[in-house]
Amino acid sequence: MCEKQNVACDCGLRKFEKVCRILDKYDRRPSKLVPILQEVQHEYRYLPEQVQAFIATSLGLSPARVFGVASFYANFALEPKGKYVIHICDGTACHVKGSERIKEALHKQLGLDDKKTTTSDMLFTVEAVSCLGACGLAPVMTINDEVHGQVTPAKAVELVNGIREREQAE
Ligand code: FES
Repeated sequence: MCEKQNVACDCGLRKFEKVCRILDKYDRRPSKLVPILQEVQHEYRYLPEQVQAFIATSLGLSPARVFGVASFYANFALEPKGKYVIHICDGTACHVKGSERIKEALHKQLGLDDKKTTTSDMLFTVEAVSCLGACGLAPVMTINDEVHGQVTPAKAVELVNGIREREQAE
């Protein structure tokens, strides 16, 4: 159920409950499309097509408009991502200090490459990104919001192995 049942709410569908709450938080204002998409992506880790269509209807926008915004900004993901999203910095400082080797080690460990960026079990996504703003710690990688500095290929592999073990133990 939506928190604001008094708002014209077409979200009897349980699967859109979280989206409804986010829409209500922004009073379903079309001008708030970007923050709405940001919060929805935080929930789903990407923007499923069905959810984009639901947001469009709820805000009185065309699906093409929502898709246009979602695909315009690099921070929005249109494909599903893993539970742990790993960003390897490929800015100048990190590149010079061997970020490429970190990426290669993780790709090898997780069976990924530049095209297949998410593991089949949906646990990890590995992406190279430009400067993460912590150049003094180069080379840098983040796992979700956690920053790891002076990473080596071996350390990166150790981190993902640790996560996988914890996940399997749960
Ligand atoms: S170049 Fe990697 S954090 Fe800036």
